Amino acid sequence: MTTPIVIDCDPGHDDAIAILLALASPEVELRGITTVAGNQTLDKTTRNALKVLELADRTDIPVVAGADAPLRRPLRTAANVHGESGLDGPDLPEPTTKTVDGDVVDLLADWLEPGVVLVPTGPLTNVARLLERHPQATERIVWMGGAIAEGNVTPAAEFNAYVDPEAARAVFESGIDVTMIGLDITHKALFDSSHAERLRGAGKAGKAVAELADFFLEFHRRRYRFDGAPIHDAMAVAHVIDPTLVTTLECNISIETESQFCDGRTVVDRWLVTDLPRNAHAGIDVDADRFLELLVDRIGSLA
Ligand code: BDR
Ligand code: CA
Repeated sequence: MTTPIVIDCDPGHDDAIAILLALASPEVELRGITTVAGNQTLDKTTRNALKVLELADRTDIPVVAGADAPLRRPLRTAANVHGESGLDGPDLPEPTTKTVDGDVVDLLADWLEPGVVLVPTGPLTNVARLLERHPQATERIVWMGGAIAEGNVTPAAEFNAYVDPEAARAVFESGIDVTMIGLDITHKALFDSSHAERLRGAGKAGKAVAELADFFLEFHRRRYRFDGAPIHDAMAVAHVIDPTLVTTLECNISIETESQFCDGRTVVDRWLVTDLPRNAHAGIDVDADRFLELLVDRIGSLA
């Protein structure tokens, strides 16, 4: 069975790899890509999405540019992680195609027919705007963002949640089935130089991913002393491809939006200590080896 998906993203090294994983996987059919400001400004994340499709010879997939700023806060980017372009490292092909004109909310609502899974891998600005206008626009969201017990922008907050906490709150309070693929599990699966070397000699997509990894690994070595890099966003796509990779827990997840120290915190009721509604599924464990094998295998199969 093939699951149709739409990726809402801010490429971003791991967003780019997530898109390639989707394109390489027969279990999912990528129907379209929407972009959002996050890792870099909207013009850059959009251009990067077009470049990734160019690289994969999949310019048939429509790209729509979405929100250029969070709902109510100034944009904070992650140039320190992804570089000035948002995809520093490889020399990716210049886009020969343009975005589809139109309002991101209307286009998303059109694409999200019953059965289509929305996979956001950036701040949830577009998704919150979508649900405000079309509260039942989608049945299922698998989001990379948040964390149960750690933060990567502040001690309490993960980047995608931190950039637009009001949007995250709206999505988690929407009643839609949301799965959170957070840092606790993405940090368990590190893509290291041996994975990169296996891809360097593969097709042009494999070579580009190896070069993206060179840049991304260096950041994680410097910043975290990790001997590899979490490919966060690809894990959200992988969860749709193979639901047995990630173990999830149905529980309450609330988003902090008004706190001096904890803004953007995804407060996960990991041990079910409250009576709050179980509004989400939190990723609590991952089969890291199987995830990384899937990733290398699939990307290596691309031309
Ligand atoms: C998330 O933040 C971004 O920098 C990555 O692309 C990923 O979506 C990880 O915190
Ligand atoms: Ca991202």
